[in-house]
Amino acid sequence: MTDTLTLTRPDDWHIHFRDGAAMRSVIADTARVFGRAIVMPNLKPPVVSVADAEAYRNRLGEATAGSAFQPLMTLYLTDNTRAEEILRAKASGFVHAVKYYPAGATTNSDSGVTDLAKAAEAIAAMEACGLPLLLHGEVTHSEVDIFDREAVFIEQHLAPLLRNYPRLNVVLEHITTRQAAEFVAAAPANVAATITAHHLLYNRNALFQGGIRPHMYCLPVLKREPHRLALVEAAVSGNPKFFLGTDSAPHATGSKESSCGCAGIYTAHAAIELYAEAFEDAGALDRLEAFASFHGADFYGLPRNSDRITLKRETWTVPQQLPMGEDFLTPLRAGESLRWKVV
Ligand code: DOR
Ligand code: ZN
Repeated sequence: MTDTLTLTRPDDWHIHFRDGAAMRSVIADTARVFGRAIVMPNLKPPVVSVADAEAYRNRLGEATAGSAFQPLMTLYLTDNTRAEEILRAKASGFVHAVKYYPAGATTNSDSGVTDLAKAAEAIAAMEACGLPLLLHGEVTHSEVDIFDREAVFIEQHLAPLLRNYPRLNVVLEHITTRQAAEFVAAAPANVAATITAHHLLYNRNALFQGGIRPHMYCLPVLKREPHRLALVEAAVSGNPKFFLGTDSAPHATGSKESSCGCAGIYTAHAAIELYAEAFEDAGALDRLEAFASFHGADFYGLPRNSDRITLKRETWTVPQQLPMGEDFLTPLRAGESLRWKVV
């Protein structure tokens, strides 16, 4: 049995840092392990311009001063995003992608796109200049069952999008279904996907384990076991289209333990350790490095990190709460044990 695991320093290709004091509380969890992270733009108000992204990047930089961590910025696509903003983003060198949220799909998505056709000008500019489009791949119509929203998005929106923009670089974020894993695997090389640790480790039973479990609620919501198995198969396959994106999403404990709890699972405190468990359970620890440290950098056209991190087999207990500004958050596995630890 392997007791230490040394990897090229990984990157997190999808994370929520929030802003202000909350951001300053959580960002170190990522910065101490990951070289870079694609930073989601769903702040209040969202990051819609290169100027917004630059100001936010400066705040992230101040919060991680002295570390080599690099935040990779994104813009929030709206019905009003203009082609010239896309070209400015590409030219900036620090905006690496544009995020699509269907309006109303999830946390702070009210400014999201109401119809992909309205964003045609911006998407054409992304295709022309090579700036990737990151998709929250769910439809939002109330008549579509919440467990089917990703599969319906793929059929109704993703397939036509790729027909209309065949050279557009697309990342289907935080995939949760067999349909998504199969679609991405069969698509051309410009289409990739991120997979979270929680979707590799849990199925939807975790939402109702002995009672309702608000800290297991995220969007897209956890799915049935056959979908989890399809995600594990994709993650450990060695296929470069699949890479690490935690979607770690901090919310104060009180806003999750509520009559209308927020979506989002916090995993940054133990991200690589959680992925190591998932890969080990699949008998594929030797595949973790490519998934965590190579495939994403290659897809984004960035150099792979050159230094390394080491994990040790060691059982430790996750704290019940972690600070989040003046509040606290409840991390995944709070009060429970993990079997790997970054040294
Ligand atoms: O669970 C989620 N939380 N899904 C998202 O798409 C957004 C995220 C958040 O920002 O909290
Ligand atoms: Zn997210």
